Amino acid sequence: MSQFQIALVSGDGIGPEVTEQAMAVLNKIGEQFQHTFLFQNVLAGGCAIDATGKCLPEETLECCKKADSVLLGAVGGPKWDNVPNNQRPEKALLGLREGLGLYANLRPATIHKALAEACPLKPEITADGLDILIVRELTGGIYFGERGYREGKYGKEAYDVEAYSEMEIKRIAKNAFEVAMQRNKKVTSVDKANVLESSRFWRKVVTEVAKQYPQVELNHMYVDNAAMQLVRNPKQFDVIVTSNIFGDILSDEASMITGSIGLLPSASLGETGAGMYEPIHGSAPDIAGKNIANPIAAILSAAMMLKYSFQLDKEAQAIENAVTAVLEQGYRTPDIFSEGMKQVGTKEMGELICHNI
Ligand code: IPM
Ligand code: MN
Repeated sequence: MSQFQIALVSGDGIGPEVTEQAMAVLNKIGEQFQHTFLFQNVLAGGCAIDATGKCLPEETLECCKKADSVLLGAVGGPKWDNVPNNQRPEKALLGLREGLGLYANLRPATIHKALAEACPLKPEITADGLDILIVRELTGGIYFGERGYREGKYGKEAYDVEAYSEMEIKRIAKNAFEVAMQRNKKVTSVDKANVLESSRFWRKVVTEVAKQYPQVELNHMYVDNAAMQLVRNPKQFDVIVTSNIFGDILSDEASMITGSIGLLPSASLGETGAGMYEPIHGSAPDIAGKNIANPIAAILSAAMMLKYSFQLDKEAQAIENAVTAVLEQGYRTPDIFSEGMKQVGTKEMGELICHNI
């Protein structure tokens, strides 16, 4: 019997509804496999601004640092569009990533057989499914570089700097090669080395790291081409490793190939300590509170937590199997609904998954 402390950052918009279902699923796993998951609710994002005036209160970061793991819903919404930039809800997310040292973001994009029809590409392009893992650098690059305003050639201008150190590229590359070893042993490093100096350095360092992994096939691709290849022939990819901003963009694109952004989980990991797990969809304020959001991404994020933070592979597999079973039984939230299927809400979807564990 083991006990795990989980900091729960449910956040804004649909965050609270989907994390509630993920929590229910974890509790069900706890019952079945004799584990105790203790949740501590903490505030971050817009709700934290409303309650404390700060998007990331110190006690939230402290609590997350002490926890065994962090489960996050989503942050942000139009209500906070006019708060100062360094206090926007999204800043809480960046603060958590940086504060917890979570430099590696794993974003799997897989097609469930039962949802093959939800993929907007021609069926032959994704025949027999799809299994891509995007490894996105998460605490460097343009997201965290120097920024500001200055006098430029045409008057006042704003700037954001993209910079990567050898250390940052090395560690994320290692991460990608390590996971590739557990998969199909293929890494595609995505950059813009035909234009950017930081990308040329990225390419050089990744190539260097690859020498330690002779079993893994490495290829390099420019980001514009990668965006095109993802819809032209996504099956060519196994692991994609890329910078913070390219990974942000390509992971949204990859999610759409799987049918809905409501299905994809993510894990943010550091050298040690708590990982953070979150659905890659945002707070979707337009559908919040209506019991129509898809909780599967949040639930699969909980599965990733079991696997990567707690080494509970069997339990993680039980969640994934339950999700597959419910989809095969024909249950769908509105985002993945199609003719002849059974439409259910957020709560019902969560309950069905619990029943199938
Ligand atoms: C994501 C989101 C965030 C990001 C935003 C909300 C700061 O789009 O996790 O992909 O850009 O990293
Ligand atoms: Mn994004």
